[in-house]
Amino acid sequence: MAAKTLHFLGKNLKVGMSTQDINDMCHAYTINRGGIPATLNYHGFPASLCTSRNEVICHGIPSPKDFLKNGDIVNLDVTTIYKGFHGDTNATFFIGDVKPEVKKLVQVTYDCLMAGISVCRPGARLGDIGAVIEEMAHGHGYSVVHEYCGHGIGRVFHEEPQVTHFGKKGTGIEMRPGMTFTIEPMINLGKRHCRVLEDGWTVVTKDKSWSAQFEHTICITEDGHEIMTTFSPQDWTEEDDKI
Ligand code: MF3
Ligand code: CO
Ligand code: CO
Repeated sequence: MAAKTLHFLGKNLKVGMSTQDINDMCHAYTINRGGIPATLNYHGFPASLCTSRNEVICHGIPSPKDFLKNGDIVNLDVTTIYKGFHGDTNATFFIGDVKPEVKKLVQVTYDCLMAGISVCRPGARLGDIGAVIEEMAHGHGYSVVHEYCGHGIGRVFHEEPQVTHFGKKGTGIEMRPGMTFTIEPMINLGKRHCRVLEDGWTVVTKDKSWSAQFEHTICITEDGHEIMTTFSPQDWTEEDDKI
C-alpha cells in the first residue's frame, strides 16, 4: 500500500501544486484503503507524509505556502500502517525541466539505494550496505548524510538496527533471514552537513546544496532479500488511480 500510494502521488504531481495538496491526497488515498499514515502525530509530526524539496534533505512538513516550481525536485516519503505493520518508502521526483546536474544527482541516489539493497543476504554485514553506497556517491563527487539512517521496521516504525549509509565492509551486525529494515540514502550535491530549521523537523543542507533520497523497506530471505515496497506494473489497476 505504501508503494502504490507513493506511485499514485508521483503520477499526480503538477507545477503550482502545494505540498499541502500532496499531503491531502496522501491522507485520503491511505485512509480510503484502510491504512493509517504513520507519520501523522508521530512524535508530534503534523502531517501524513514528508515532502522535502531541493535543499531539504528529509522530514519536510507539507505546507499550503510551499509550491512546486518548474525545475524543482521533491522527495515524497510515505509510511503506511496496514494490518499492524509499517511500510516505509520514498522517492525523489522531477518537477518540469530539471537541470542535468540535478537529474544526475537523483539518478545516482537511486543507484546508491539499489547498490545497498544488492548486497543484502544472510551472512552479509550491515556495514556492507554503507560501504557500497558511500563508494558510489563519492565516486560522483557527492556526499552522504550521516545524521539520519535506515532502520529496523515492522509493528514498530523505527527500531533497531540503525542502517547507516556509510561504513566499512565486513563490519556491523550480520544479516539473518526474517530481518526487516529500510535503506534510505540521502545524497547531497555539496557537503554532507545538515541543520534542522526552527520548526524542529525540516532538515536542510548547511551549504544549501540540493539533496536527493530514495527508500525501500526490505526483508532478508533464506537466499537473499525481498523488496517489500514495490509492485509489478500488472498489479496496478484502474482502482489504484482513484483517490
Ligand atoms: N519516513 C521517515 C523515515 O524514512 C520518517 C519520518 S518521521 C517524521 O524513516 F516524523 F518525520 F514523519
Ligand atoms: Co524510513
Ligand atoms: Co520513510
